[in-house]
Amino acid sequence: MNRPYVIINCAMSADGKIASPTRKQILISCEEDIKRMYRLRNNCDAVLVGIGTILTDDPKLTVKETYVQHPKQPLRVILDSKGRTPPKALALNDVSKTLIITAKGNKKTYNQSNVEVVECDTDSKGFIDVTYALDLLYKKGIRKLLVEGGGTIIWSFLKNRVVDDLYTFIGPYIIGGKDTPTVADGEGITTGEQITLIINEVKQEGSGVLIHYHPV
Ligand SMILES: NC(=O)c1ccc[n+]([C@@H]2O[C@H](COP(=O)([O-])OP(=O)(O)OC[C@H]3O[C@@H](n4cnc5c(N)ncnc54)[C@H](OP(=O)(O)O)[C@@H]3O)[C@@H](O)[C@H]2O)c1
Repeated sequence: MNRPYVIINCAMSADGKIASPTRKQILISCEEDIKRMYRLRNNCDAVLVGIGTILTDDPKLTVKETYVQHPKQPLRVILDSKGRTPPKALALNDVSKTLIITAKGNKKTYNQSNVEVVECDTDSKGFIDVTYALDLLYKKGIRKLLVEGGGTIIWSFLKNRVVDDLYTFIGPYIIGGKDTPTVADGEGITTGEQITLIINEVKQEGSGVLIHYHPV
């Protein structure tokens, strides 16, 4: 199967959390990391999140001109099996195009001309089949895909072994909470099946540390 090159980027606290205990967005990155993230986004053909992130954070998923001059604005992709993306979600604004991938039979219509909804096969959990979605994106010309979260989506991509690069920025904070979202949520591994990573680079970035891994 042809698929895009897949990069995961996320920011976590020193205790591995990616949001507040109430799942709200919380400042973890520093200015240097935010700048790196926008440049990375601008260098990708598409940026992908799960519906969980759309509903909690309502991100625009665009590239800010403050950080990148003449941004090219990647395609925004939302994995949304049940068709829950609100018509007023900021990720549907007219700054870029948006592709909502939904399960067969759950297709909603949107008035915005920049929004496309496609139906897709689901996996055994009823989620969008990651392999099918990547094949679809490749056929649409996407060669470099940035996956930004949240934890359930990141887990799915890692579990399906379709990740080429993993960047984690570790901010100098403790958030705590046993149910607080982490980098990789989902059901987790069964015994002896850890997903092994090779460390490519570790560097201090502003107030935190950036680790670049390659999954084996
Ligand atoms: N710090 C960071 O870098 C960062 C970045 C992004 C998000 N976040 C945080 O992450 C949290 C949201 O994460 P989340 O885990 O609740 O939601 P999520 O990963 O954004 O979305 C998960 C949802 O996507 C849908 N989905 C469709 N296909 C899927 C697939 N193949 N695999 C997994 N999910 C699929 C499912 O809902 P349906 O069944 O309805 O389709 C699933 O419940 C928020 O607290 C947000 O603030 C942090």
